[in-house]
Amino acid sequence: MTAAVERESLTLDPADWAPTRALAHRMLDEMLDRLEGIGQTPAWRETPSEVVAALAEPLPGDPQGLERVWEDFRRQVLPYSALNIHPRFWGWVMGSGSVEGMLGEMLAGALNLNAGGANVAGTLVELQVLQWCRSMMGFPASSGAALVTGGSTANLVALAAARDAILGPEAEQGVQASGRRLSFYGSVETHNSVPKALRMLGIGSSGWRAVPTDSDFQIDLGRLQQMIAEDQAAGYRPAGIIGNAGTVNTGATDDLPALLAITRREGMWLHVDGAFGAIAALSPALRPIVRGMEQADSLAFDLHKWLHVPYDAGCVLIRDREAHRAPFTQPGSYLTRMDRGPGAMPVLFGEFAPELSRAFRALKVWVAFKAHGSAIYGRLAEENVAQAAYLAGRVSAEPELELLAPVPLNIVCFRYRGPRPAGDEELNELNRQILMQLQCDGIAVPSHTALNGRFAIRAAITNHRSRRADFDILVDAVLSIGRKLAVQRSGDRVIG
Ligand SMILES: Cc1ncc(COP(=O)(O)O)c(C=O)c1O
Repeated sequence: MTAAVERESLTLDPADWAPTRALAHRMLDEMLDRLEGIGQTPAWRETPSEVVAALAEPLPGDPQGLERVWEDFRRQVLPYSALNIHPRFWGWVMGSGSVEGMLGEMLAGALNLNAGGANVAGTLVELQVLQWCRSMMGFPASSGAALVTGGSTANLVALAAARDAILGPEAEQGVQASGRRLSFYGSVETHNSVPKALRMLGIGSSGWRAVPTDSDFQIDLGRLQQMIAEDQAAGYRPAGIIGNAGTVNTGATDDLPALLAITRREGMWLHVDGAFGAIAALSPALRPIVRGMEQADSLAFDLHKWLHVPYDAGCVLIRDREAHRAPFTQPGSYLTRMDRGPGAMPVLFGEFAPELSRAFRALKVWVAFKAHGSAIYGRLAEENVAQAAYLAGRVSAEPELELLAPVPLNIVCFRYRGPRPAGDEELNELNRQILMQLQCDGIAVPSHTALNGRFAIRAAITNHRSRRADFDILVDAVLSIGRKLAVQRSGDRVIG
């Protein structure tokens, strides 16, 4: 009897809500302070060894209490986590988040809604957000749409639909049983999530064609058509082309209307990876860059990159809604729709992506879009593009620096080349060292890539907190670190 009563008193809810409430308010206040002052912290800091050791603690068996957890977070996590929310972060391609997005995330956490499509208002919020996504990108209201974890999953979902659409009724049995050899095409600059998706989809590397680019890093249309013809002659079924709206390395956009024409002529699927570049469509000034994207069969874009929704949130749009559902629709007696009540589902989101149980991602998007208004996102993108042009201008004006690629959008690739001529091998190592020094000093966080065998310091500007002065700091620091390292290295050589 006593044991039964004790068991019944177990819950994860606070025994006394008042101290939890007080602490929760403090947490929120401190996180707002953190965001307000983020420019005053280093852009990155190494996690010290004692913190690394502390973070390897064994699974706690006994409760430590929220107060202690908060203290651990403040000492062990917070100081070493500044990265993409910092004004001088331009690494990889990451968004900066927003206060409104953070609060939306908090509200979603409190609701803890499993956003599978149950008959609750949250499902209507998600349907609304999906409609906003279609309208932002110029896709018809009848198209399929899903919120997913990000661009990688959006590419996977779109390519699954493409594969099944090309296989037709044979798709049910799988690629192998169909006996068909499908081939997909995209430029060598295509993000690695595309070949990765093809691998997961049973197409594999034998069905992926990396097409060379021209000097602007755009897909070479002549080579593409030649490769399609060669595959047809060799018994392949050219199934789809992946067009880039903003490549990860340099921000190049392929000739999307030309790709569309090829796919229409050859009975292929056109997928556009617009992970960040698609956001150009929100600006009347930038929209011409991605012209034709709105006519693709499918489009992947991220909400957590250039739209600054907190991680994670991506979107996939597929023109033919039934083609979208095909790979993901499986019967389940436990999921049939009821006439009324929570089981009267307006939609089953699991029919549009791999997951059944899902986060209520749509809420943070809904909160952020309503709070900010959509017009600001196009203006923010324009500002970042202007900053990229400014940075490129500063690089070009410095004889010791060198631009390594055109700057058609928001990505600048450059290197330090020093006061006297040096070979690529030497410059590659020198620039690797410069980049790491810049990051380790907490000055700024661009990232890197390799372009035609040259190591590039790469700034992908999807940051609403950056100001021109931040790019001056970057250029001045690269010059000063570069000069110091170049002197050291020539000294080493003399001594050596
Ligand atoms: C062009 C492009 N496609 C796809 C992706 C993958 O997106 P995610 O990181 O959201 O999965 C990225 C990421 O940077 C990207 O730049």
